[in-house]
Amino acid sequence: MTRILVVCLGNICRSPTAEAVLAAKIRACGLDKRLSVDSAGTAAWHTGKSPDSRSQAAGKSRGYDLSGLRARAVIPADFDAFDYILAMDKNNLAHLDSMKPAHFSGHLGLFLAPLQAGLEVPDPYHGDAAGFETVLDLIEAASDRWLTTWRQ
Ligand code: 4NP
Repeated sequence: MTRILVVCLGNICRSPTAEAVLAAKIRACGLDKRLSVDSAGTAAWHTGKSPDSRSQAAGKSRGYDLSGLRARAVIPADFDAFDYILAMDKNNLAHLDSMKPAHFSGHLGLFLAPLQAGLEVPDPYHGDAAGFETVLDLIEAASDRWLTTWRQ
């Protein structure tokens, strides 16, 4: 089993969206037995909360159900539990890098790296509805690339 953790700041907008999109694509490819996905935030502010209603609405309009997800913070044990830890932006990546134990042998990097080196998923939290569509556009495109890598 290859285990994937997607990470943003609050775990209520970008990373739950990425979790739902990846989970749907994993199911659609019939790879549920080989790939699992979870999400977390570098901040614990929203622990236990459902995804932001704007993320839920934007996801639902494209067929992704985020309603059952609950926010949690990244913990040190995640570096033992996951093979891929993928950050939505460079701040999240720097935070994860500072937590990373020396023995971590998995892949830590940006979620959008398969699209373009250094590309980030912009934080939509303080913006308008269009920002949530941009998040989905970027996450769907990168998820297709990751699935191509992981299905080989
Ligand atoms: P996320 O978005 O990192 O994509 O979940 C945010 C959610 C909450 C906050 C910032 C970003 N916040 O400041 O509470």
